[in-house]
Amino acid sequence: MATYAAITGWGKAMPPAVLTNEDLSTFLDTNDEWIISRTGMKERRISHVSGLEMAVAASRRALACAGLEAKDVDLIVYGTCSADEQVPNAASGVQAALGAQRAASMDVNTACTSFLYALTTATAMIRTGVVRNAIVIGVEIISPFMDWDNRNVAVLFGDGCAAVVVQASDKQEGLLGEQLGCIAEARQTLRVRGMGTAYTNHAVTSGDTAWDFDGQEIFKRAVQGMVQASTAVMAKHGVTAADIDLVVPHQANQRIIDAVISRCGLPDEKVMLTVARYGNMSAATVPVALNEALEEGRVKPGALILMPAFGAGLTFCAHLVRWGERVTPLGESDAALPPAKAARLKW
Ligand code: UT7
Repeated sequence: MATYAAITGWGKAMPPAVLTNEDLSTFLDTNDEWIISRTGMKERRISHVSGLEMAVAASRRALACAGLEAKDVDLIVYGTCSADEQVPNAASGVQAALGAQRAASMDVNTACTSFLYALTTATAMIRTGVVRNAIVIGVEIISPFMDWDNRNVAVLFGDGCAAVVVQASDKQEGLLGEQLGCIAEARQTLRVRGMGTAYTNHAVTSGDTAWDFDGQEIFKRAVQGMVQASTAVMAKHGVTAADIDLVVPHQANQRIIDAVISRCGLPDEKVMLTVARYGNMSAATVPVALNEALEEGRVKPGALILMPAFGAGLTFCAHLVRWGERVTPLGESDAALPPAKAARLKW
């Protein structure tokens, strides 16, 4: 009998400090009207704690939701492009904090698609019998490496985190299939100069970043990639737009979402949106939106969910998930972020 990988737990950890469009216009030549009309964004969150601290809180909540304990975890996959450190890996930090002694821990970085590529990784390892219980995290802390002088990028991004628990199951649920891809010829359209060993002895030192960002080109490629992946994964699984109950897309721009949805023949009311409140949280976007869809009762038992995304690289993907019967948590954790006295834009 085939083994599937059901999503049985979910939890988020959102930093409380809000950065509004008005706040941004106090130090950048921008305004609320421009940001809303070009992106759909009104505000985003800025974290006062590390990515790892957010990931630990979200993971504790996801574990409680699934009714599991740390000792049950076989695998932790940490999806991010903003790991607090390169060595050691970030997933091992979550493992240590949880006390998940039996687990294997790995990081996945495909930029904004990291959570979904991490879900692919964990699901494949469950389906092939390597592990049975996994935590998959999507976390991003972009504020420390944002170029806060650059209005082209500073208005677009925010920090956040969410996690899911994925478990071996005999029922046909969880990730049914995905289409992955990468438009590598466009990799120069989004580059953060200053992050990584390439910059150690160069003009841009780590912590002092400059973004190469061709917004219009990324926009076009993002729509192309997400539509292609969504159509391909639906065709592969004999599913039409009418069969999709909910779309949980990457949220980089309301206009990108609108273009993808209409080209796939999906109605607006099936789309879960967080872009106005959180902006683009890169790898955290899809899992946070999924968490909030569950909190709002928008995920029904047995729902078919489409999750299209894109990110730097330019990686793209679309994931097709069959939800199980349970849409409420088995348990709750009181894990929370410490109170924020003041958020810092640059660490
Ligand atoms: O997850 C991957 C992340 N990447 C993305 O999500 C990028 C996808 N691209 C986009 O979302 C859009 O291309 C943007 C939101 C970045 C830009 O929207 P656009 O409609 O493509 O605007 P544009 O680049 O054509 O810029 C229009 C104007 C320019 O002024 P001029 O040259 O027409 O005088 C920009 O300088 O808007 C100006 N502009 C701004 N004005 C006020 C650019 N940023 C801002 C700003 N506030 N923050």
